[in-house]
Amino acid sequence: MKIKEALDWARIELTQSCERPLFEAELLMAHHLKKERIYLATNEHKELEDTKEFERLIKRRASNEPYEYITNRVSFYDIELFVEHGVLIPRPETEILIDEVSDIILENNIKSIAEIGVGSGAISIVLARKFPNLKIIATDISADALAIARKNIKFFNLEHQITLVQTNLLDEINEDFELIVSNPPYIANDVLLESNVQDHEPHNALFGGATGDELLKDIITLAKQKNVKFLACEMGYDQKESMELFLTNSGVQLHHFYDDLAGLNRGFVASFNSPKVP
Ligand SMILES: C[S@@+](CC[C@H](N)C(=O)[O-])C[C@H]1O[C@@H](n2cnc3c(N)ncnc32)[C@H](O)[C@@H]1O
Repeated sequence: MKIKEALDWARIELTQSCERPLFEAELLMAHHLKKERIYLATNEHKELEDTKEFERLIKRRASNEPYEYITNRVSFYDIELFVEHGVLIPRPETEILIDEVSDIILENNIKSIAEIGVGSGAISIVLARKFPNLKIIATDISADALAIARKNIKFFNLEHQITLVQTNLLDEINEDFELIVSNPPYIANDVLLESNVQDHEPHNALFGGATGDELLKDIITLAKQKNVKFLACEMGYDQKESMELFLTNSGVQLHHFYDDLAGLNRGFVASFNSPKVP
């Protein structure tokens, strides 16, 4: 089978599962051939080797498996990370949380932070690369996620900056730090997500409880107890009201909410002891 014929077949196979079936077929073909996508433009008449393996990749995508799990790669901020089943695929909106935290780190000369729910390591790795003097303690309850974070941290040679701990929230963490960052699970348990998410991504990374915001509230309470200066969290687009109320009732005066690129409420930054919330 020629590359072009394989692409024509794959485009039809992916019609149900993908918005842009030919584009995704080409991406998976490029991945299969270990070439850039542009290579296909001038080589589509060539005979395709290992057709069976290409068919396997396409069948996986046709059954709604996320492209990132098939290729084991995801682009995030200015890096590429390894991902596989067992860890959340980092989302573009989380890049905004990183920018919010970066502003606080710069303005307040922050040297130590904790991340709750490190997942693949996306947030901690980008922050560690941006701020080489920053020390990070990053936790997760999932051993699978931590194994993947460890692999990514090693790839970027950041073991001296990021310490991983398997625990609930910050249990058993006795070190002091100035800021907590978290993108916790915040979706209500009864929400039915699209198949590529619901059927493939880890539920303990997605669902936060009956109302979804339970862990966010626990993290606010914890940040107060730990006496940190700042807390920055991602949240659901419909959780501003409940977070606002909870922050105010917790005695947190200084906070702001930020939007994602679609203009939806997506997170908040709170300051506990310092007046400098950007
Ligand atoms: C939405 S994912 C975020 C992953 C990564 N930080 C990112 O932004 O791509 C939430 C992560 O929190 C972890 N998690 C869930 N409950 C937790 C808990 N009680 N304590 C620590 N981590 C938790 C999950 O295993 C998951 O890796």
